[in-house]
Amino acid sequence: MYKILFTLLFGRMDPEQAHHLAFRWIRRVARVPVLRTFVAAVLAPRHRELRTEALGLRLHSPFGLAAGFDKNAVGIDGMAMLGFDHVEIGTVTGEPQPGNPKKRLFRLVADRALINRMGFNNEGSLAVAARLASRTPVFRTVVGVNIGKTKAVPEDEAVADYVKSAERLAPYADYLVVNVSSPNTPGLRSLQAVDHLRPLLTAVREAADRTVPARRVPLLVKIAPDLADEDIDAVADLAVELGLDGIIATNTTIAREGLGLTSAPAVVAETGGLSGAPLKARSLEVLRRLYARVGDRITLVGVGGVENAEDAWQRILAGATLVQGYSAFIYEGPFWGRALHKGLAARLRTSPYASLADAVGADVRTTV
Ligand SMILES: Cc1cc2nc3c(=O)[nH]c(=O)nc-3n(C[C@H](O)[C@H](O)[C@H](O)COP(=O)(O)O)c2cc1C
Repeated sequence: MYKILFTLLFGRMDPEQAHHLAFRWIRRVARVPVLRTFVAAVLAPRHRELRTEALGLRLHSPFGLAAGFDKNAVGIDGMAMLGFDHVEIGTVTGEPQPGNPKKRLFRLVADRALINRMGFNNEGSLAVAARLASRTPVFRTVVGVNIGKTKAVPEDEAVADYVKSAERLAPYADYLVVNVSSPNTPGLRSLQAVDHLRPLLTAVREAADRTVPARRVPLLVKIAPDLADEDIDAVADLAVELGLDGIIATNTTIAREGLGLTSAPAVVAETGGLSGAPLKARSLEVLRRLYARVGDRITLVGVGGVENAEDAWQRILAGATLVQGYSAFIYEGPFWGRALHKGLAARLRTSPYASLADAVGADVRTTV
């Protein structure tokens, strides 16, 4: 049903325009109390067994919205209404910026994938902090804040730019994410090298502690699937050394593997990060590697090609305490969250595990 509607409504529309249109409608519905209560009851029914704890936070379920969908924190309650029990806003940069020239988002429908080179289009840390400060939450959802580097800031001043965002946004963040893995900001991914990452994460940690002394804001780093295995290990070791709270694996890939022959070669050749189904295998592999390295010492968030409850369950067994998605929401539509919750609850009930927490990493623990 959604697939027919999707084709009729959005099929010919530019994907970025379609995103804005759909997101505007979600926000409209969420503003009307009776409507949002009804929609949430239908699309986001709660399953007790999915309640979980991560990063010192209590969540209705492990399932949330990955960064990039709500870059400016304009629709947190709208997404919570659709069953996303945590919403990661951003990436927010120190200064506002328009992002890359359009057209910058492409659908690969046959591959259930997207390619984007948005380039961190966002209103900047000051405006987003002001919006979060004035927000009156309707649904109890966890809000993560993902920060990145302003494009115009030279690489040797990157730390100061992240610190600026951290200082402004940490007060409103249930958790903070240092994004060093987008392929669309020149030089950004080189910050994943341990020599660059150590001072960056240390400075952001200090900035968060300085600005929010009353609470320890959990700090995570989001990594690329394109890192070599030894670099993944190095980031994992650094995270343990610095007492980081979590690692998000993964961002989009610059690789073009896992694509069928049906997507137009011209689209496949577009510059940008690939997300969705073709990313599934590598994201899962990175997650397993991380869990084998850090075990339960650090919270892992699994993202990349999660399309259904089975995928989410596989991420949990591979070590993820939280699971996020973005691209599949575009293809599956508003009933996606409901189906995922229902399927995940059923999967847990028929498993040998008493709780989600028991299932986290179970596959990796038995193979190492
Ligand atoms: C259009 C688009 C924009 C994105 N923007 C961001 C971003 O600003 N920051 C970020 O950390 N990840 C961003 N991502 C990456 C997603 O958060 C996620 O890591 C990736 O898409 C893999 O998940 P998926 O396969 O479920 O989409 C973006 C993804 C898409 C498709």
